[in-house]
Amino acid sequence: MTTASVTTSLLSAESVSKHFPIKGPFGTRTGVLKAVDQVSLDIRRGETLALVGESGSGKTTLGRCLLQMEQVTSGAVRYEGVDLTALPAQQRRPYHRSMQVIFQDPFSSLNPHRTALQQVLEPLQVLTDEVDPTPRALAALEQVGITGDAVHKYPRAFSGGQRQRIGIARAISVRPAFVMCDEPVSALDVSIQAQILNLLSSLQRELGLTYLFISHDLSVVRHLATRVAVMYRGRIVELGGTEQLFTDPLHPYTRTLLSAIPVPDPRRAREAKLLRAERPTEWFAWPDDPQHLVEAAPGHFVAG
Ligand SMILES: Nc1ncnc2c1ncn2[C@@H]1O[C@H](COP(=O)(O)OP(=O)(O)O)[C@@H](O)[C@H]1O
Ligand SMILES: [Mg+2]
Repeated sequence: MTTASVTTSLLSAESVSKHFPIKGPFGTRTGVLKAVDQVSLDIRRGETLALVGESGSGKTTLGRCLLQMEQVTSGAVRYEGVDLTALPAQQRRPYHRSMQVIFQDPFSSLNPHRTALQQVLEPLQVLTDEVDPTPRALAALEQVGITGDAVHKYPRAFSGGQRQRIGIARAISVRPAFVMCDEPVSALDVSIQAQILNLLSSLQRELGLTYLFISHDLSVVRHLATRVAVMYRGRIVELGGTEQLFTDPLHPYTRTLLSAIPVPDPRRAREAKLLRAERPTEWFAWPDDPQHLVEAAPGHFVAG
């Protein structure tokens, strides 16, 4: 994959690595965990780039590196061409505002002692110079369907789906250009998931947002994503247009992920189970150069 920045690129990772020390029994450093290993990725303005892979593959860590919530071990993160990793802390405020995040678990990301309105006011107070941020906070809550007396209620009074709506209102209130959605529906009942996904889609259209949509579940991203990047043990092993990737998966790991999607046909479900059992994740190999992705078809890249 080329790292040359495309004119349409809003946010990009250039050979980004994030290593964590592995600590031994007495706190001694016994090794290093390459949570993200030389990842290069362009997120284009207005698209939804899905980042998928099993739990522990490094998706959240990569997202946190992009948002500067985590300091990269090496590499560059560019927002509209500006390398954020080289930026002094005092110059980062506008970028914190432009890049927001929606977390998996709205209950732990919301403050239990603050009303819905207070939760949404907080980022406005910290990140904008708005004299009276209340109208804007109310407008953001209305956009996600929280209106009337409900805005004065505390998180415990809301259902899981409504709490996630408050989390979304918090993210969009400051008018970001980019939102990282980190497993935004994974903690929700299946019946509620579609409502939240639809809300995210319509907000994207209305507000012209660019999404990085992280999910361990490929089926969730199919109707939402423009492109899909598949992450495996800290590296991107496949990247392509959503339909391309679903209809013609090239990397064996992608095929395994696809086979893990529940299928209504019992015979196919059995085959999928067999495939999973036969191929432990250790099975997959990659070339020595982690950045080496081959363009197998136009716009469709796969590891060596
Ligand atoms: N702060 C941290 N300290 C040490 N290890 C971490 C830290 N954050 C994540 N990791 C490790 O990095 C790997 C990738 O984690 P993560 O990015 O959360 O994966 P994912 O989001 O794909 O489930 C995991 O092995 C995880 O245990
Ligand atoms: Mg995660």
